[in-house]
This record gives sequence, C-alpha cells and structure tokens, in this order.
Amino acid sequence: MAGEKGTLPSLRQYWATQANELLHCSRRWEQVVRGDFTTTPTVEWLVNGELNAAVHCVDRHLTTGRRNKAALIWQGERDHEVRVYTYQMLFSEVCRLANVMKKKGIGRGDCVAIYLPMVPELVVTMLACARIGAPHTVVFSGFSAASLQSRLEDCRARMLITADGGLRAGRSIPLKPTADSALEEFAEVGSCLVVRRTDQKVEMVPGRDSWYHSELSAADISSDCEAESMAAGDPLFFLYTSGATGLPKQVRHGTGGYLLHALSSCRQVFRLEEDDIFWSTADLGWITGHTYSVYGPLGLGGTVLLHEGVPLYPGAARFWQVVEKFRVNKLYTAPAVIRALRRAEGALPPPAALSSLRLVASVGEPVDPGSAGWFAGLAGRPVPVIDTWCQTEAGGILFAPRTPDDPASSGTVGTPLPGIDAAVVDESGHLLPTGGCGRLLIRHPWPGMALQLQEEGEIGGVVTDGGYDTGDLARRDEENRYVILGRQADLINVAGQQLGTAEIEAALLAHPSIIEAAAVGIADTERGQAVYAFVTPRHDVPGTRRLLEELRSHLADKLGPAVLPVGLQCAPSLPKTKSGKIVRRLLRKIASGEDGGFGDLSALADPSVLAVLLAEKRRGETKIHLNL
Ligand code: WTA
Repeated sequence: MAGEKGTLPSLRQYWATQANELLHCSRRWEQVVRGDFTTTPTVEWLVNGELNAAVHCVDRHLTTGRRNKAALIWQGERDHEVRVYTYQMLFSEVCRLANVMKKKGIGRGDCVAIYLPMVPELVVTMLACARIGAPHTVVFSGFSAASLQSRLEDCRARMLITADGGLRAGRSIPLKPTADSALEEFAEVGSCLVVRRTDQKVEMVPGRDSWYHSELSAADISSDCEAESMAAGDPLFFLYTSGATGLPKQVRHGTGGYLLHALSSCRQVFRLEEDDIFWSTADLGWITGHTYSVYGPLGLGGTVLLHEGVPLYPGAARFWQVVEKFRVNKLYTAPAVIRALRRAEGALPPPAALSSLRLVASVGEPVDPGSAGWFAGLAGRPVPVIDTWCQTEAGGILFAPRTPDDPASSGTVGTPLPGIDAAVVDESGHLLPTGGCGRLLIRHPWPGMALQLQEEGEIGGVVTDGGYDTGDLARRDEENRYVILGRQADLINVAGQQLGTAEIEAALLAHPSIIEAAAVGIADTERGQAVYAFVTPRHDVPGTRRLLEELRSHLADKLGPAVLPVGLQCAPSLPKTKSGKIVRRLLRKIASGEDGGFGDLSALADPSVLAVLLAEKRRGETKIHLNL
C-alpha cells in the first residue's frame, strides 16, 4: 500500500461538482465514479449517464451567443490559405459528414480510421464520428502504409477517411497511395472518403472510394443529424502509444469520463477566456491534439487555431508570424519547439508582435528552465511559461502549476490538478518522504483514465492496489510540486544511486551551445552502470572535441561525480518518435557499442539518424571519454 490515501469522498465530491458544471447529459449519471483501485477490480465513471461528445463541442454553443463565433481557425502551410469555421458552420459540416457516414452503413460502435493531414476536415471527422457513436482512431499522416494497416486491423476499422495528399515542410506528401496499400491488405474497410488537399492525381477504387466534398454536397445529405445518446463508458476513440518499448499499443478512451477530464483540465490549466485564441501545436494524431485542440477547447466554446504542417517551416519567423497574425493568447507546445525557436535566435520578433501572449505551456518532455526563461522574456513583459504533465493513458493533463505565475514551479510540472491524488513511492510501493526519487503513482481513479485501466484493472500490470503506475520517475517538494526525472525504463543506476535522465539532460542543456541532449546508462564494471550522453550543438557551433572538453568542465560544476558522464558524443540529431520524443532505448544500444538489433523502428521520425550516430561513434572524433 502506498501510504494514506487522499480523502476519497472529497475527490468524488470535486468530480461530481465538475460534472454538474461542465457536462450536459441526455441522461443524468447516478454516481460520479464507482470503484477504486483498492477494493474493486473495475472502475466506472458517470454511472448510467448518457451524453454525446459532439453535442458538447458544437450544439451546445449554438444557443449561448457563440453561434457565430470562430470555433476553428485553420492556417494552411501557405500563408494565404486560411479557413474559419464558426460553430454554426462546424455544426452543419459535422452533421453532413455524419449523414454521409450513416449512408455508408457506419453506425454506433463501428470504428472509423482517420489518416489526414492537419486540415479542418480532420476535426470535422472526429466530431462526426462522435456524433453517431462511431469510435475514431486518428493515425498520424506521417505513418507508413504498414503502420496504418496494423492500426486498421487492430481496431477492425470499417471506414477510412484520408486525403489525396498533405503539405509538410514545403513538400507535397502523397497519402492516398499509402492508404491504398494499407487497404489492399485489409479489405474489411468498406468505404474510403478522400479529402482533396493537394490536387495530386489519385486512383479511386469504384464502389469503395469517393470524394469527401462531393459526398457532403449530395442532394440527399441533410445538414442536421440527431446525435446518438452514448453511455458514458462507450468508447470515443482509440489511440496508439509507443510507450517506452517502441511497440504500438492501443489505448481506448470512453465518452463521459474522458470529456469531463478534457473540459475540466482545459479550464483549470488554460483559463480560457471568451475571446482567447488558443493554439496547441501538437498534431491531432496524439492525445494532446485530441484533448487540447478538439474536445477540451471546443467543449468550452473556445476558438482553436489549427496549423497545417510544421510550425517552424520554413523557419522560426513563421511561428512568430502565426502568433502575431492571429494574436494568439494561449499557446500549448513542446520543449523541442521552444528549443528550436531559441536556437534560431537571430530571427526574433519585436516584443510587440508577441504582446497578445498570456500563457505558454509545454508538454511531453521536461522543459529546461533556461529555455522556459528565455521564452518568458520575449514579449517585453513576463509571460508565464509553465510545464504540464500529460500521458495518452491519462487522457489529459494531470499536473500543472497551481497558478501560472508561481516562480517556484520552474523546473517542475507543478502540483497534481484538483481531483488528482498522486504519490511518489519506492520499489515496494512505500510512500517516499519529500525529496525522494521514485515511481510516480496516481492513487485514485481520475475521469480521463483509459478504458483499459477501468475495465481490466491494468495495462501491462501497471495498476496495483497502490494505484496506477505511470511508468515515470519523480520527486516531490514540500509544496507538493513534482519534478519529473524521466521514464522508469530509462533509469540509470550508478553504484546503487538511481538517476533519472532528466536532471543530467537539464545540466547539459544549461550550456549555451547545446540544444538537445540525451543521457543513457551503459554497463560499467565498477559501478554497475555509468552515464553516457549525446548532445546536439546549436547549428552555428561545430560539434568538435573542444566543445566536448568545454562541456566536461561545465558538467563538473553542475553535477556530482557519480552523475558525470563517462562518455560524451556529439549527435547532429537524436532518434525521436514521430511525436518528438527521444528514444533512449536505441541510444543505449549505440552507447553500449551495439550496431544492430534495434527492433521495430516504425515509430521513428527519421531512422537514418541511427546510421549517422553509429558512424560518428566509430570515427570517435566527436566523442570523448572523461576518464574519471
Ligand atoms: C512524458 C504525451 C516530463 C512522461 C503528452 C509521460 C513528460 C509520457 C511531460 C507520456 C513533462 C509528458 N515532463 N515528461 N511535462 N509530459 N511526459 O503518452 O514520461 O506520448 O509518461 O503523451 O511523456 O507520453 P505520451
């Protein structure tokens, strides 16, 4: 047992109040949550409640004075391409698509796969699925035919919505041909709708394929469609997370609990105001995109900015232009984006261009205080830059600073959000005292928890009677702020001292010439394991032995002797997943001298990075041993 649990009745009371305030149920729930991790094997949120997620995101706003408000502003990769959907327009298009889906025989419980670039039709499709009770699975448009096919098969998709192609960093990416090869191998998908985006010539298979826009404008398609009343526990969507292993695993999210979490965390963390423009830069293929570009902000009646393709293409100036053009107020992004912007410091905008920014939040990896502090000063007055913790299985944010301008939250992900009961425990599940480094546990069910965590009581054995083990390592301060130290799977054990990757990497990133860093553990005869680190220098700093020597003294100041890396290697770029996370599992192999057996690389954004790192390691010119 993980020590004394938070007060269960007060947590329940909190969620009941949130549900009363935020949800509009077609059938009111009888109990906000049934079950906990200790006494029952299953958990159920909003027992016997019924509702519809699309109604929350669209219909509700048609009668509240927001009917003609911009729900969605889309900025295409080309500057002149901007489209705006008011809530009324969104309603009509969602209903039309829902009717097209029904016409094609799709209904409650049928899975619809979405393989689209970041275009407004992607949001419309998610909401149309939600409207008719068909769970969606969004597959990131950068995935290959094989990855798409395995997802289609795994969730037994009945329909696919794709595009002729997409624009990404100035290039036209074909999507339909990729979808075709995936569909060839999986014939259960009976219909495929194609959005026209790039005007590439595509093959249309008669009887299966049709154009999205022609279907929507057909004479028999009405712009009204009754929403299905869904049980709170019915699935809303499936997502695949690669977790620490690199093998995609399905995560299912339900309707009522998930929506409650999306709405309440979005309100709590971003404090959306009626005329805010909210820009979350994550692709809609990830949980952040689902919860903070669609279900959260639209459910609250906000205005969402959707940006096609890479936000830093053709350069950082583009990112600032988008902020200035739409006067973005709240920005949700990732440390890699902040660091890339910082790296391109030459192209900084005048402070006035950023004067609309009220809050910048980061997610996905630790954001180093140096980069956060840099961003905070850009607008000519302090803008809070906060770090938030989110996970696919969690459905949304679980940790964020209590107030955006708490200076002591720098370097932390803040405190558990209200209604979340977290703890740091040791290997045997005992609560650690303040400051202790251990497993990050969520001790009581929360509404955004994946359905698997509710139904079977586990995903890969991660739920015990102590709670849900997030797989992360953390430390807690006396004010209940949490510092995320890295993944448990990446833990480095030096002479019995357990080290998370994050602190070593933060020390490396504190050097002005370094823009990316990754630390891994390698076998060491004396100490069990030793630290080996990869660093990417700024583009205008050559990755030389001299730089590494300089880093060595920089680290000696910042880290204790046990933590000092025994090896440092320059890396022009690091192996990352398509969602931008460093894959330390592969770096561990390279650092240990292995040059093969890397396993499934389908989640990697650019597998060619591995060959470069191996060659660099062999050449040994940009690598040093610290001879400790
Ligand atoms: C990590 C991404 C440090 C963590 C939204 C978590 C973080 C995993 C942070 C989930 C943060 C997320 N600081 N690490 N602020 N936010 N993580 O499912 O290891 O792709 O378990 O969701 O990202 O990754 P996922």
